[in-house]
Amino acid sequence: MRLILIGPPGVGKGTQSALLVSRRALIPLSSGDIFRKEIEAKTDLGRLAKRYIDHGELVPNGVTIEMMAKRLRDDEVRHHGFVLDGFPRTTKQAEALDEILFEMEIGLDKVVSIEVDEETIVSRLSGRLGCTRCGELYHSVNKPPKREGLCDKCDSPLFVRTDDQPETIRERLRVFREKTAPVIEYYRASGDLQVVDGCDDPEDVFKQIVGELG
Ligand code: AP5
Ligand code: MG
Repeated sequence: MRLILIGPPGVGKGTQSALLVSRRALIPLSSGDIFRKEIEAKTDLGRLAKRYIDHGELVPNGVTIEMMAKRLRDDEVRHHGFVLDGFPRTTKQAEALDEILFEMEIGLDKVVSIEVDEETIVSRLSGRLGCTRCGELYHSVNKPPKREGLCDKCDSPLFVRTDDQPETIRERLRVFREKTAPVIEYYRASGDLQVVDGCDDPEDVFKQIVGELG
């Protein structure tokens, strides 16, 4: 299975990607997670990406496409299938992805657009916590960890993302409307798009996604 999860910040792409990875054994390809690992490792790419991410702006297309192309061309990704989360995010990236998949002689099963109203998005992102080690996601109100500040799964400390500040969240939503909403139209036009309601409980959202995949 090869699919793309697309939608505004905080809509639940990472949450659904984790469910698809654990239950369908897909390879996760999250451009945001890859950038955050590069930042943590203090690589040149990480230093460049941080300048954009901390302001809610998109990392330039060239480096982003190169980074994702390298991961997509991996043999394991080809054989196990993948869930793309956060890529493509511009029409240029969507066109580049088409070319990469064409070269690899593989296609996409589905592009899933997750929709949630903006008020819910802001409240989700304002309370989000993530595990520094395993990446498990929590929410201070909706899904609090059993022990404050610690991951239920691996006991590691939880952290708040640097781009989850109110002003940066607003900028990320603006950038989504300007740069990523056209990508949804790109896939709608090609007939690959399925829209799911992301306001439901995560398990119900998962059922919608898997149901859509048949
Ligand atoms: P990225 O990491 O992709 O962030 P994003 O798209 O802004 O999305 P988020 O990760 O914030 O939200 P999500 O949809 O994954 O929601 P989550 O599941 O965590 O990108 C970050 C930055 O990197 C970008 O701004 C950009 O700078 C750069 N970047 C990345 N990709 C790029 C690209 N292709 N090109 C250029 N730049 C790029 O859920 C959020 C919260 O809600 C959690 O607390 C969760 O527990 C909760 N929640 C989830 N689902 C539900 C539900 N159904 N009900 C109740 N609560 C829920
Ligand atoms: Mg995410």
